[in-house]
Amino acid sequence: MSQFHEALDATISHLEELKRVGVTHVPVRRETLEALGRPVAVTVAEPPVAQDAMRNTSPPVPVSRAESPDMFAERIQVSGSTKAEKLASLREQAVMCVKCKHLAASRTQVVFGVGNPEAELMFVGEAPGADEDAKGEPFVGRAGQLLTKIIETMGYKRGDIYIGNILKCRPNMPAGESGNRQPTGDEMKTCLPWLHAQIDIIQPKVIVALGAVAMRGLMPDMTTGITKLRGHWLLYRQIPLMPTYHPAYVLRAYTMQNRRAVWEDMLQVLEKLGRPITPKMRNYFKSE
Ligand code: URA
Repeated sequence: MSQFHEALDATISHLEELKRVGVTHVPVRRETLEALGRPVAVTVAEPPVAQDAMRNTSPPVPVSRAESPDMFAERIQVSGSTKAEKLASLREQAVMCVKCKHLAASRTQVVFGVGNPEAELMFVGEAPGADEDAKGEPFVGRAGQLLTKIIETMGYKRGDIYIGNILKCRPNMPAGESGNRQPTGDEMKTCLPWLHAQIDIIQPKVIVALGAVAMRGLMPDMTTGITKLRGHWLLYRQIPLMPTYHPAYVLRAYTMQNRRAVWEDMLQVLEKLGRPITPKMRNYFKSE
């Protein structure tokens, strides 16, 4: 079945389900309407599925993924000459993605990513939660507020950096259940090409992986747990990558030790980027 017909089927079944539960109107973003108005010329081929993506059997090796950085680009047509144009072109295709039919049917919208296409620093999280699904932007809930605070304490504005997730759709929950669930291995494998392409376009100088799921997505061969990995530089396709705790974990286990650990990781990031670090920043947790 063509990409177009898959998209059409998923849209129709999603709308029928909404109608069945009494929904009479649905919000449609301007960019989606624009994309729908265009001829169906955009072809998004089968997303590349890294066969090894979820196997964590190899010994830990702090190196980039084996496949070529262009692996995804071969399958997705990204147009434009600037990073902003390329990201916009990628986004146009991502918002139409229906590879995970269950997620396409349950999501409010695709949460593509946000921030500066020219960012030197990129944060990668796990997946959108309910707040992100509603707003269409990553990290806007409680964990997001903590992440924003961290970014600002580092001396950046949120708009200076780029924030993305391993999964672009909110992992669906069983009917009547609230909360969040972790992405499955299959969902990650299917969605990861979008993130690889985002990184290939942005080419940040440093990536911060927020938590174990982000690490598993970016470096599937790494078997070491996040507690041991955090604070240690790794390489993702030649880009320095710093693993740290996910802000949601820090909120759950709100200890001085965990908060200090994340901050120390961020100081290393600032050092790597040659950013100014004031004595106040250096002693942020030492003075408490
Ligand atoms: N947690 C994530 O990993 N990503 C988000 O966008 C929000 C919460």
